[in-house]
Amino acid sequence: MLATQGKKIWMDGVLVDFADAKIHVLNHTFHYGVGVFEGIRGYATTSGPAIFRLADHVKRLIASARIYRMPIPYTAEEITRAILDAQAANDIVPSYIRPILYRGEPALGVKNRAGKVSLAVGVIPAKKYLGESSESGVRAKISPLRKPRSDAIPSFAKADGNYLNSYLAGLDAADDGYDEAVLLDANGHVAEGTGENIFLVRDGTVYTPGLESDILLGITRMSVIQIAKDLGYPVVEKLIGVNELLTADEAFFSGTYAEIAPIREVSHYTVGNGRPGPITRDIMDVFYRVVRGEEPKYASWLTPVPPLARVVTRSPRREKGSA
Ligand SMILES: Cc1ncc(COP(=O)(O)O)c(C=O)c1O
Repeated sequence: MLATQGKKIWMDGVLVDFADAKIHVLNHTFHYGVGVFEGIRGYATTSGPAIFRLADHVKRLIASARIYRMPIPYTAEEITRAILDAQAANDIVPSYIRPILYRGEPALGVKNRAGKVSLAVGVIPAKKYLGESSESGVRAKISPLRKPRSDAIPSFAKADGNYLNSYLAGLDAADDGYDEAVLLDANGHVAEGTGENIFLVRDGTVYTPGLESDILLGITRMSVIQIAKDLGYPVVEKLIGVNELLTADEAFFSGTYAEIAPIREVSHYTVGNGRPGPITRDIMDVFYRVVRGEEPKYASWLTPVPPLARVVTRSPRREKGSA
């Protein structure tokens, strides 16, 4: 469960008090799910607060908006600055940072593109997503809900509407007493969790599904792949059958909120010996050192948060294509 209290929300250039960050109930995003967002983490590092893989998150946010043909009234640099300003204004670490591009004006009608596109950035305290169990290992259930195919809803975009599927799968797993769901793709291959990518380890090799399984290309996933390779473990992206997961030596989730969470059970099958495996622990050790700024080799993954220097107060510019 996420804590939801921060101090300020950055809304189109203005830092608004948390309680006053409101939009109209007839806004397009609320009714049709057409919004795109990011989940980003701020960490306390050895040299002050820093944001993990900020440039990659901004890049994915812009790519998601392109898929949904949302004209973004900000440059990548302005979005970056907004995120840094929101983090500095809230002064919370570890933090969970949520930039979202949405149409906040009253504008009903599915194809209505009249409402302006706005950017908001919220910052709340970050906790362990999967609770204490995220270190000793989580219990996951193979969901009866499949991922939608990307030719129906593109998994490549991190869009609001995608999470209806995650929501139902998550409720089903929770109601059955599990910590998390594992969704299969439309063809029955292992895809991902409700908000995490998934990895398994067999005979010293690390495996993870690829984009053909209609996953979100996670930024933590990308980091894990790099760390695993740097540690000398072969990493293979491939279609993964359910039985491969049920009989894996080790398995874990990766995601911004979940970070790296070992999986100790999948649908009543114990993974390995039921405890985080040695390769998972190796990767976790490096990952948690990286986010604390203790691994100089990965220093470029952390963007230091400068003090709140200046808050943009202009209205966003209208772009070609927005009415
Ligand atoms: C469906 C889904 N898969 C995977 C991830 C992991 O992505 P990342 O590591 O970029 O947070 C997320 C979280 O954003 C997600 O929502």
